[in-house]
Parts: sequence; C-alpha cells; structure tokens
Amino acid sequence: MKEKLQGILQAAKEQLAAAADPRALDEARVRYLGKKGELTALLKGMKDIAAEERPAVGQLINDVRSEIETAIEKQRAAIEQAALAHKLAAETIDVTLPGETLPIGKKHPLNIVLDELKEIFLGLGFSIAEGPEVELDHYNFEALNIPKDHPARDTQDTFYISDNVVLRTQTSPMQVRTMEKKKPPIRIIAPGRVYRSDAVDATHSPLFHQIEGLVVDKGIRMSDLKGILELFAKKLYGEDTVVRFRPHHFPFTEPSAEMDIQCYRCHGAGCPLCKGEGWIEILGCGMVHPKVLEMSGIDPEEYSGYAFGIGLERTVMGRFKIDDIRLFYENDVRFLEQF
Ligand code: DAH
Repeated sequence: MKEKLQGILQAAKEQLAAAADPRALDEARVRYLGKKGELTALLKGMKDIAAEERPAVGQLINDVRSEIETAIEKQRAAIEQAALAHKLAAETIDVTLPGETLPIGKKHPLNIVLDELKEIFLGLGFSIAEGPEVELDHYNFEALNIPKDHPARDTQDTFYISDNVVLRTQTSPMQVRTMEKKKPPIRIIAPGRVYRSDAVDATHSPLFHQIEGLVVDKGIRMSDLKGILELFAKKLYGEDTVVRFRPHHFPFTEPSAEMDIQCYRCHGAGCPLCKGEGWIEILGCGMVHPKVLEMSGIDPEEYSGYAFGIGLERTVMGRFKIDDIRLFYENDVRFLEQF
C-alpha cells in the first residue's frame, strides 16, 4: 500500500511539474484527486483493509493528498507567474523611444497672405465684414451703378442662379450692404470668394478671392485713399516699395484709379515678370460715387468715402513668385509644403 501511494505521489508530481497551462493542471488534479481519481479510489477501498491498519493507511492517504494539493498550488502559481512574465515581455514599451511624428498641415498660401493683410488693416482701425457669395443682382450690380444694360457687366460675366440671383463677381456688394446697415464713420475690409465665368488658364479661374475696402466719413479725400494704400503696400511688400496711381474707370467710384507697385524684380527697368512695364497692377480703387452713397442711404452732401478692391491670388502670386493660379486649388501637397 505504501509503495502504491509513493508511486501515485511520484507520478502526480511528475505530471504536475510538466503541466504548462491551467488546463493540463486541471487534468492532473482530476486524475489524482477527482471523484474518480486514483486517491479517491484508494479511499473507497479502505473498507477492505483490516480495521487496525485503517487509521495509519488513512493518515498516509491524507498526507499524500495534501502533498499533491500543495504541489498543485505551487504549480498553479508557477504557471501564473510564467504567463505574467510572458505578457510583460510581450507588452514592453520603451518610454524613452522618440514618438512617431505625424505630418501636420500648413496654412494655405492664400491664407498666409490674407491673414497678413487682415493684420495690417486691423492695425489701421478697420474691422472685418463678411457677406453672401450667392448675391442679389441688385447688390452685385445695380446698387453699384451698373444697371442691366451697362457694358461693365460684360467683363464680369457670372453664374446666374436666376435672373436676379448671381454668384457675386466682386466683393464690392459688401460696400452697399455695409452702408445700408451702418451709419458713418465706416472703416471695413471684406475678404471673400468671388466668381466669374472665365475659362481656366494660368491667370484665370472661375473662382478667386478679393478683399474689398471701404471708408466713409465726413471730409474723406482722395489723399486719404492714397495715403492708406501706400502704407498698406509698404507693409505688405516692404518699406522700399514704390507705388503709383493710374486713372481708370469703375462705375461705382469717381474718380477711379488703379494702383501699381514698381516691379520688385527689376525695380522699374522692365522684365518678364512685369511684362516689360516696370510696374505691376495690384488693386482698383476710387472715391465712392455719390450716386452709390445715395442709393445706400448716405447723404453725399454730408459724407464722402473711398473704396478699393484687391485681388488676393494676384497678390500672393507676386509675393511668392507663383506662375500658375491653378496651383492654389489643386491641393497638391508638394506645392503646399513649400510655404
Ligand atoms: N470690384 C472691382 C473689380 O472686381 C475692383 C474694385 C475697383 C473695387 C475699385 C473697388 C474699387 O472697391 O473702388 O474689378
């Protein structure tokens, strides 16, 4: 009996030591200690043993049983320990490694310059106005002194939503919208998208951006307009920038002018960038036409004002020497990364 028990204990210890996972461990437990297990079978056989030997044999079986139980617990702890060690090794994180660098986007070149422009005008006491891109014909044309049959409409052909609703061709309607809402003094810039039904090429796009400016107050003169626009050009293109004003015609300003800056590449000598002119046109401007003031509910006898319109794309192309307007809208990161 004793040898038999020793044999069972030995076999159990060996099987337990070999159990590498909880399932194998449980199989071993059932085999030796379970209801149909080998020790249980021995206990069941106690009735065949002589009465005087029973206590000693019983004691022996119990000793073996508790030894096997201890061995099971030890092995369970070992398996758990091994599993934990394995998990920790597999999940090692080296917190000293440098992080993964995710590519981050950049400001679009149009926005870089637009933000600079806003800064300049905010610094000069202007505020920023915004208005609809889908505009009434009335604001885009009529109220700017461009009636239905006016030839100026030909150069600003646009997309019609209906006879009276268009995609705005210019930010100038913001002049009228502002004057209708606010009494002078008025000092605003109004940046935004504008549309024209132009064929796409290196310098034309059916969608582009303008920045409108409007100042209305008592005693505003052409010299105020010239002063502020020259200051603006110097802040944007550098202190040594030279500007000139050329007479022009816009239906909503009188007198009207265009402002050129002396070519920053050839300094007036003439080069391919300025097409041999020595000058580059950057904006249209003028004194607000008295009729426009009147139509917007402002008395031209009491107030006067000036207005200007800057083409954003053209300004940015000059600034960064970009030769094709289409690059702005293609979202090619190889282009966008350069700014
Ligand atoms: N709206 C004009 C255009 O798109 C530009 C312009 C010219 C705006 C003179 C003005 C201005 O405010 O006074 O061609």
